[in-house]
Amino acid sequence: MVLAQLKEQKAVKRKMDKFSNQLKIAFASQYTFALKAQNFHWNVEGSDFYQLHKLFEDIYSEVYGSIDDFAENIRKIKSYTPASLYRFSTLTNIDDEVEILTPQQMVEQLLADAEKMQEIMKVLFVESEANREYGLSDFIAGRQDAFAKHAWFLRATSKA
Ligand SMILES: [Fe+2]
Repeated sequence: MVLAQLKEQKAVKRKMDKFSNQLKIAFASQYTFALKAQNFHWNVEGSDFYQLHKLFEDIYSEVYGSIDDFAENIRKIKSYTPASLYRFSTLTNIDDEVEILTPQQMVEQLLADAEKMQEIMKVLFVESEANREYGLSDFIAGRQDAFAKHAWFLRATSKA
């Protein structure tokens, strides 16, 4: 009986460890995404400069606006929040951009990244529900929806 309880506790802990690790990956990915949108906000050039400069600003502002809540949600499940550029670079699923791209490349790349972020949030939501972290599920659903909106704006812009 005691052994069965111990096994059960270990299984729950393993499940939670996996979930908190996925949450950290999503957090680092989101941070990288926001930085990239800011990179494009700063470095975009061309005849559509102002429109794209503003679009990228709207996107990074929204994403940065959720960073603190995201970090605190990681703490709520008793895990520590990664908070260094080194940790972000080892955890992120979003590739860094070091070249200066054309406006079209910027829009297309950020669109692909926004779609990837939606997929990351979908996986995270299922894990959150499995761990019965319903408040966190709600937050994650909100993030998925926000990235869906960013993807829509970028998709519509890419057709111009
Ligand atoms: Fe600015």
